[in-house]
Amino acid sequence: AAFAASTASAQEYPTKPVTIVVPFSAGGPTDTVSRLVAEVMGRELGQQVVIQNVGGAGGTLGAGQVASSDPDGYTLLIHHIGMSTAPTLYRSLPFDPTKDFSPIGLITEVPMTIVARKDFEATTLAELVATIKEKGEELTYANAGVGSASHLCGMLFMNAVGAAMTTVPYQGSGPAMTDIIGSQIDLLCDQTTNTTSQIKAGEVKAYAVTTAERLASLPDLPTTTEGGLEDLKIAVWHGLYGPAGLPDDVVAKLSDALKVALADPTIVSRFAELGTTPVAATEAEPAALTATLTAQIALWKPIIEAAGVYAD
Ligand code: MLT
Repeated sequence: AAFAASTASAQEYPTKPVTIVVPFSAGGPTDTVSRLVAEVMGRELGQQVVIQNVGGAGGTLGAGQVASSDPDGYTLLIHHIGMSTAPTLYRSLPFDPTKDFSPIGLITEVPMTIVARKDFEATTLAELVATIKEKGEELTYANAGVGSASHLCGMLFMNAVGAAMTTVPYQGSGPAMTDIIGSQIDLLCDQTTNTTSQIKAGEVKAYAVTTAERLASLPDLPTTTEGGLEDLKIAVWHGLYGPAGLPDDVVAKLSDALKVALADPTIVSRFAELGTTPVAATEAEPAALTATLTAQIALWKPIIEAAGVYAD
């Protein structure tokens, strides 16, 4: 029966709605990217693609849930750079990012921005660095848990400054942003997919973007290099995965639907407004995601080990 079911699914897939687990809160950056992509993929696949937010433990809770689900194509995962940092950050991670998933394709790379509550005293990145050096742990820094992009950026930032702030973890940077806007928290480094409209609306103060060049979507925002922190560079790559053992033709169907989504004019323009671009079609494939994951695990391992930050 199991054989018959998988044969049928390979030919007719999908015959019912597909769930994509987003391992962070609704309304945050991963959720925003995932919902845009899921809508077009659903149209292309002829079935609804629904997002399920499973926040917690810096994205490792949701990823672990997908790793142990059936490889039938009905439970997928969209996760980001955290897939590559978690194996070093977590000493007892309940899954192996390189073995327990079927990579489907890369999605996008999102720049990050350093922002503060709008009434925060520092105006430039140099002033912000001076304030952090002076006040250190009196200041609060929000992140989405150990393994999140905001955690990684915070780690790089505090290292570059040479002073630690008090970290306040959330299940996603969506709720963290709400508390920055409400001035309950001082600082956050978060993806442009979650900060652009708040920066434009003046709801938060922005200091720098973590890319080599300024962004067309936020042309007045200096780069970290311009602000004196040239080592603070990070781009948050995202990928689509199924559990290990997903049939090849299901993977191919999903990769094709992902390519259609990433070429969709509405997605291209919405991504541009949010400071990002979809990957090229050749990258929305398993080999490209595997290559990025492997390279990024190797890249971040020594950086995290040197910083000595680990999950509890
Ligand atoms: C989210 O979707 O909440 C984020 O990607 C969190 C993060 O990684 O900083």
